[in-house]
Amino acid sequence: MELKTLSEFPSDFLWGAAISSFQAEGNWKKDGQGPSVIDQTRKEDRTTNFDDGVDFYHRYHEDIQLMKELGLKAFRLSISWTRIFPTGNGKPNLAGIEFYKNVVHELKQNGIEPIVTIYHFDYPTQLVEQYGGWLSRKSIQDYENYATYLFGALGDEVKYWITINEQDHVIKMPERLGIGDGEADFSNYKQEAYVANHNMCVASARVIARCHQLLPNAKIGPALSYQAYYPATDQPEDVLAADDLATLTQNYILDLQCRGHYNPIFKKYLVDRGIFPDFPTTDLALLKHNRPDFIGINYYSTDDVSSLSAQEKFGKTEGLPVPNKEYGIYTKTKNRTLPTTKWGWTIDSVGLRIALQRLYHDYELPILITENGFSNEESLEKRAGVTTVSDLKRISYLHDHIKAVHEVISSGIPVLGYCVWTLMDVISGHSGMNKRYGLIYVDRDNDNLKTLQRIKKASFYWYQSVIKANTEEV
Ligand code: BG6
Repeated sequence: MELKTLSEFPSDFLWGAAISSFQAEGNWKKDGQGPSVIDQTRKEDRTTNFDDGVDFYHRYHEDIQLMKELGLKAFRLSISWTRIFPTGNGKPNLAGIEFYKNVVHELKQNGIEPIVTIYHFDYPTQLVEQYGGWLSRKSIQDYENYATYLFGALGDEVKYWITINEQDHVIKMPERLGIGDGEADFSNYKQEAYVANHNMCVASARVIARCHQLLPNAKIGPALSYQAYYPATDQPEDVLAADDLATLTQNYILDLQCRGHYNPIFKKYLVDRGIFPDFPTTDLALLKHNRPDFIGINYYSTDDVSSLSAQEKFGKTEGLPVPNKEYGIYTKTKNRTLPTTKWGWTIDSVGLRIALQRLYHDYELPILITENGFSNEESLEKRAGVTTVSDLKRISYLHDHIKAVHEVISSGIPVLGYCVWTLMDVISGHSGMNKRYGLIYVDRDNDNLKTLQRIKKASFYWYQSVIKANTEEV
C-alpha cells in the first residue's frame, strides 16, 4: 500500500548500531574468560584469527567516541557469559563484570543507551560437559542465575535487555548447542534441538520474570531472526509451504514466548515425528504470564519457498548451516527478480515492511530492530587525499530499509528503534573479515591484524545525517 503521508519518527527513537562479544572484543581467554561453544566455529575457520577480534576490549573508549560523533542513541552489545562465569555457573569472575560495567557506564556518560544481549551464541562449553547444556533442564537455572547476576551488576544503567540471540539458528546448528560440528545434518538431532528450544523458552520466561521483578523500569525481549517468506508460484501448495516455513522457523518460538502455547501446526509436526518434548504443564503457565515487553528482530533478507514432496525421505532436511529444505514440507528457491549480496542474500526492503506488519499483526508487541545491515568485501580507497570506503551500496540498502521502518511507523505500528549491524567491521561467523558490515572500517584481515585502526566509511557520515534529521529523507 502506498502511503499518502509519512509521520515523523518518534523523538525518542533508538537510532542504534550493534556488535556481539565474540565477533568484536578479542582478548580471548584472557582476564579469566572461560571456553565457549564458539571455539568450535573458530576451529573450523583456521584461516581467521578470532583471538583478537577487532579489539573492542581495549579500544572501547575510542569506539564510544566514534559512536558519539555518529550521534548514536543506542548501542547493542552482548555479554560474554564465560567472562562473567568462566564455567557457566559457580563463582563470578570480577574482571569480567568490571569490563562490562565500565563499557556500560561510559556509554551512559556519552548519552548512549546500552541494549544488552545476555547470550549471543557463545554458550559455556563446560555446561555442555557438565550436563549437556540446553538439552538439560539444569540449563534453565544456570541461565537464570547468570542473567540475575547481570541485572544486579548492570541494572542501574541498562534499561534494554535481550534474552537470547537467534534461538532458531542456535537450535538448528549443532555446534552452537555444543553437540556437533558444522557438518552435522539437522535431521540427525531434531529431537534434541526441540528439547533445547523448550528449555530456552522456559529459561527466557524465568529471566523475563526476574527482570520485571528486579528492574521494573527495564524492558526485555528476545532477538529472533525474522523475515518474510514468499511462495515461489501462485500454486496453493507453495503458499502453504511458505506459511509452514514461517511457522517452523519463527512463529513456533513466538507462540511459546508471547502466547504460552505450542502452535498447533508445530505441535503436529513434532508429534508426527515422535519428538514432542516432555515437560511439566506449569511451564506453559510460566510462559503465558511472563511475556516479553518487545520483540527484537534481526532482518537481512527474504526467501522464496516451494512445496517439496516427501517421497521416501519424509522429514529429512538438507542444507547447512541451517536447513534449506525439508522433505514433505518446503524447499527454498531462488528469487528471480531481487538483487542479492555477494553471499546470495536477497536485498529486499519491502520484505522488511511485510515482516514488521505480520509480526505486529500476530503479536501486537512493540518491535525493536536489533540487526539489519549490508555485507560486502571492502578495502580502503583514497579519494581526494582522504582514505575511506565509498560504500554506496550500503547507504542505499540502509536508506531503503529505514524507509520501510518509516512506513511501518506511519501506519501506527510501534517500533522502538533500529540497530545497524554493525557499528564497525567485526568477524563474520562464517566468512571472517571477508564479509564486512560496518559503518566504520577496521584495518585488519583474516590472519593479519595490521593496525586495527578505525576509518569512517561514507555510510558513517550518511547515518550521522539520518540520526540528526531523525529521518532517512536526507
Ligand atoms: C546474525 C547474528 O545471524 O547475523 C550475527 O546475530 C551475524 O552474529 C549476523 O554476524 C550476520 O551473519 P554473517 O554470517 O553474515 O556474519
